[in-house]
Amino acid sequence: MCGSGDQMTSILEQLLSVFWLRPETAVWRYLDIEAMKRFEFEGRSLDFGCGDGIFSFIRAGGRFTAEFDAFQKTERLDRFYQNVDVYDAYDEGYNPLVASASSYRIGVGFDHKANLLRKAAALNFYRETVEGDGNAPLPFDDNSFGSIFSNIVYWLDNPADVVSELRRILVPGGKICLMLPNETLPQYSFYNSLYGETENEQWKWLELLDRGRLSDNIKQSKSDEDWREIFSSAGLSVSHHSQHLPKVIIKAWDIGFRPMFPALMKMVAGVDPVKLPSVKAEWVGALRMFADPLAAIGKINDESSAFHCYILTK
Ligand SMILES: C[S@@+](CC[C@H](N)C(=O)[O-])C[C@H]1O[C@@H](n2cnc3c(N)ncnc32)[C@H](O)[C@@H]1O
Repeated sequence: MCGSGDQMTSILEQLLSVFWLRPETAVWRYLDIEAMKRFEFEGRSLDFGCGDGIFSFIRAGGRFTAEFDAFQKTERLDRFYQNVDVYDAYDEGYNPLVASASSYRIGVGFDHKANLLRKAAALNFYRETVEGDGNAPLPFDDNSFGSIFSNIVYWLDNPADVVSELRRILVPGGKICLMLPNETLPQYSFYNSLYGETENEQWKWLELLDRGRLSDNIKQSKSDEDWREIFSSAGLSVSHHSQHLPKVIIKAWDIGFRPMFPALMKMVAGVDPVKLPSVKAEWVGALRMFADPLAAIGKINDESSAFHCYILTK
């Protein structure tokens, strides 16, 4: 996938339409797609931790109609502030409203949540979806994939074991693209810097904003040197490394529209369906005034940026 200026603008617009109630997610995903420019799927491919598949589908050039959004099936919004995954929901009415198919398909979408995999399967983008636990030995043969993408390795208990498993299932000469947090990431979390590090009770309420993210995954943040140690122990070499997601982007994302999300969902449900498309179009237009310059600033990176993007070879 190349990334000409026009293509990237249309990707940002698409992401803002799909994640209109969480525009911070759209900007993050856009910068992920930029960061992965050098990675192409080859041979049998695996999206390890594919979730609902929307990210990889858009990266592959797939497009949704303006009526679609990623919030079409959510559940338990009343428990949002107790760290419940409100997207882990599915019923037969789920319809991803694909406007145009992607330019390629991915062999296998793997995840541990059945509902997310049902959403992913509805895209007709994965040849196969496989449910399984990424913390356990993977249900795939040795040397069975030509290319693997994952942005979830840091959500798992032991990244070194997972990297070793990914190497096992990769063919010699195959490629793995991983997004992994840098050691700077925790410093950019309001919860961590104002409460986690100080234990000042005045900031305890930031738990409502963090929603378990820090304890779930920021703990796996590592320097380039430490990640490389894990790769070389697993028998993988680094063919490309870059960093993305600078401090300002993570700080904007850390709050974003997150605090108001359940209330926004209820408000949208109350909008007259006839008026909704024009409300959404105006909303996305307004978002672009902020998202476009923020995404441009997000392209300015250095070694303090919060994420690493690696392409590894076996
Ligand atoms: C942040 S989401 C990323 C999803 C998708 N790759 C994307 O970019 O939208 C993290 C994903 O990791 C999956 N996940 C978390 N722990 C897992 C595990 N132990 N085994 C398999 N998948 C897991 C979640 O279900 C979720 O879909």
